[in-house]
Formats: sequence, structure tokens, C-alpha cells
Amino acid sequence: MQRIFQSTLSQRNFWLRRPRCLSQLAHNHTQNTLEEEDDFLLPKIPHFDYIPLPYTGPSASEILEKRKEYLSPSILHLYKNPLNLVDGKMQYLYDENGRRYLDAFGGIATVCCGHCHPDVVEAIVNQTRRLQHSTVLYLHHAIADFAEALAAKLPGDLKVVFFTNSGTEANELALMMARLYTGFHDIISLRNGYHGNAAGTMGVTAQSNFKFNVVQTGVHHALNPDQYRGVFGSDGVKYARDVQDIIDYGTCGRVAGLIAEAIQGVGGIMELAPGYLPAVYNCIRKAGGLCIADEVQSGFARIGSHFWGFEAHDVVPDIVTMAKGIGNGIPIGAVVTTPEIAKVLMGRTYFNTFGGNPACTAGALAVLKVIEKEKLQENAFVVGSHLKECLTSLKEKHEIIGDVRGRGLMLGVELVTDRQLKTPAKAEILHIMEQMRELGVLIGKGGFHGNVFRITPPLCFTKEDADFLVGAMDYTMSKM
Ligand SMILES: Cc1ncc(COP(=O)(O)O)c(C=O)c1O
Repeated sequence: MQRIFQSTLSQRNFWLRRPRCLSQLAHNHTQNTLEEEDDFLLPKIPHFDYIPLPYTGPSASEILEKRKEYLSPSILHLYKNPLNLVDGKMQYLYDENGRRYLDAFGGIATVCCGHCHPDVVEAIVNQTRRLQHSTVLYLHHAIADFAEALAAKLPGDLKVVFFTNSGTEANELALMMARLYTGFHDIISLRNGYHGNAAGTMGVTAQSNFKFNVVQTGVHHALNPDQYRGVFGSDGVKYARDVQDIIDYGTCGRVAGLIAEAIQGVGGIMELAPGYLPAVYNCIRKAGGLCIADEVQSGFARIGSHFWGFEAHDVVPDIVTMAKGIGNGIPIGAVVTTPEIAKVLMGRTYFNTFGGNPACTAGALAVLKVIEKEKLQENAFVVGSHLKECLTSLKEKHEIIGDVRGRGLMLGVELVTDRQLKTPAKAEILHIMEQMRELGVLIGKGGFHGNVFRITPPLCFTKEDADFLVGAMDYTMSKM
């Protein structure tokens, strides 16, 4: 592969100005000749005191064979030789040979407290031993306790909770409630958004990779307020005019609502341009619609500056949907809305067999307590800011980095082969990802073109972990 970074005077300047996070690689660089600068020190995974139990199960290749025979051929796996992960502890994962990896993807922004966090495990195990399942047709304190604690984390009148099993289900329910409440059908969502894969949510999802050729009606996809590639740069209010145009020209003038992520996760960690959400909420409400915030990825303290992604935009939604981080890996989702909107489900039965299951809600309550007790939001802010700063410095060094974005521990690094043309570096990202795995870092990937690193680790990530990740990325890019 063509070497992207040549040893130049600017590289020497870079090393002189290098941030602390790159120090392990910078060792000896200032005194060595530029030619010797290829001899990087291998970045090392931070020390961690945990030894997983020996693994005696089937090997990666045996599992792969079974997957090929018995699982859907549509299921993808990361890496040429897929990883067989058998243990997890906090921000680390272990493969079948006991090799430790830094988890910078967090089970796709899901593991917030850390893998197998003892408090969460204890809550689930204790509840499972006593009563694993009963359904909401009977009383149980776990669902009521968690609903109360969750409602306390939301602003305004957002205090009625419906539990589901996933983000898709939560969004399906939210869309239906918006339609029922307003009496209108049209929903506006943003291009490049991802909201799930059932009938309605596939409709609002706006990336062809995730849309099958089935009927998806009643949705309009608005211009994405994309600060990197978008036509209006970071001017959120200009993008918002497109929503008004859709309402004026594409609907009867009244809509059921808007659904949007504050930071598009699957779409490549795209933070909506500032000013966009307040302007769009205004348009939607004037047209009689409800504003749905999809917090499946950006919720639960991940963005550091706030507990919810929408808070960073200074708006209060009418409906908030959540999943992933809510349970640290337990299958649970939720829709939270106001008492008035919640009433639309009366008169029929909205039933969900597992929604609010005692084991899941007991675990999710433990998650909320751990986030508070261990100050994970503050940690996401401090470590995330440090990591973003390091990645931004790395961008000065490696031409292949076109953009560094996001907040807290929800960060994106977009790779391009040409900074002017913003040509997606699709092959290069795969190579870097494989090499980083070899060095012990598991990182996510996404974006419409598949050329964005998604960094969404457990929120217990440390500065040392961040430095190791940046070191591994730097090392790999320097060797290309
Ligand atoms: C923002 C967002 N909403 C909804 C979903 C769907 O969630 P689930 O996969 O739990 O159905 C996802 C999944 O990645 C998501 O990122």
C-alpha cells in the first residue's frame, strides 16, 4: 500500500509539538535522524489485573463452520479471521487463547459500565435466582423502580415509560404514538440516520445499505446537517429550512413528527450542526408534529457533556427512545414520553412479553447506579476530550485522516484518500482495522461509505487506554 506520510520537515515539527498521548511512539524521535523515524516503539496495552478462566470451548474455526451452516448468510463478521471472544472485564475483551484486547467499540456503544461489571451482574443474577420472568400482567417492583429512576433522568414532563426489548421496537412504538397522537401520518427523518430494521424503522432509516426493497411509506428524508460534507457546513439553521420545505411542498402541511439522533452513530458519528435541532423542532411543532429523540447510541452519559444527546442541542423532545447503553448489554429498550401523549395507547392493548422483564430492569437500575457512583459521565467527558485532542493531533500527521468528530466517548475518525475531494478510504480503513486488532485494539467502523472509525468504548475507558488506541492507530498509519 502506498506510503501516505513521508518524512518531511512538518513531521519533525509535529514531533516537537506532539501531544502527551503520542509520547510512547515519539520516544527517541527528536534525537534520531528522520530516516530512523520508522523504528517506532510498539504501543503496549495498559496493565490490567485480571486473568480470565481457561477456555475449553470450540475454536473460532469450528464456530465459523457452524455459523455458516446454521445461521443466516446475511450475518456479517468483522476481520478476515473473525475473533472468538470468550471473556470480558470492564474495557477489555479476551479471545479463546486468553489474549487481551482493548474494546474501543463497546458492543456497538452498548457496554457503558464495562463488561461484566460486578454490580450489574450481581443485580441480574440475584433477580434471576428469585424470579426471572412474570410479564407486566403481574406486579413486580423492579420495573416500577427502574421506571421511576429513569424518569428522574429526563427533563420536563417526560415521565411515562414503556419498555421494549430493543431500539428498533422502541422506535416503532414511538413512531406509532406520534401518528396516533397527532392524527397525521408523515414522518420526517434525516438522511444518513439509522433507527432500526422493522417495517416502520427501516422506512425512517436513511442509508440504502440498511434498506431492503419492501414497502416503506409515509416518510420524508431531510437534508442531513452534516458538518463535514454537507452543503451548508456547520450552519444548522440553513439545513433546517429543508424540513420546512418538505412540510410545505411534500405533505398536507401537517405532520406526525420528526425522528433524529443527536449524533448519528451508524452513520459515522455525525454530530448534527449546531442550531439545527431547535430550528427543526420549531418547524415540526408548528406543523402539529411531535419531536422524537433517538438516544439509542448517544444516551446514558456517553457524550460526557450531558446525559442525553439532545441536551447538547438545548431542546426538549416529546418522546425519547433508548436501548443499548440502558442495559450494559442486557436486551432492553424504552420509550419515555409525557402523560398526555402516553394516553394514546389506551383503549387498545399495547403488550410486549419481555418488555420490563424483572431481570432486565433490575440490571438496568444497577447500570444507572453505576453511572452515578463511578462518575462515568465525567469520565466520558475527561477521557473523551483527551482522546479527541490526541486524534485531532494525529490528523495533523496523517493525511488519511479527513475528519475527527463527536463528543465524549462517542468519537469518529473519517478516513479519506484525498482531503480536498473527501474520497472515502474504504480499503485503507479495513487494513488499519486489521492491523490495530493485531496490536490489541478493537475499534468500530461505519458511515455510509464504511470509512469512519467509530470509537464508542465502555465509559470506564482511561487516558492510558486512549493513549494506547491513538498509539496503535499512529503506528499502523505510519507503516502504510
Ligand atoms: C440510533 C439507533 N437507533 C435504533 C437502533 C436499533 O436498535 P436495535 O439494534 O437494538 O434494534 C440502533 C442500532 O444500532 C441505533 O444505532
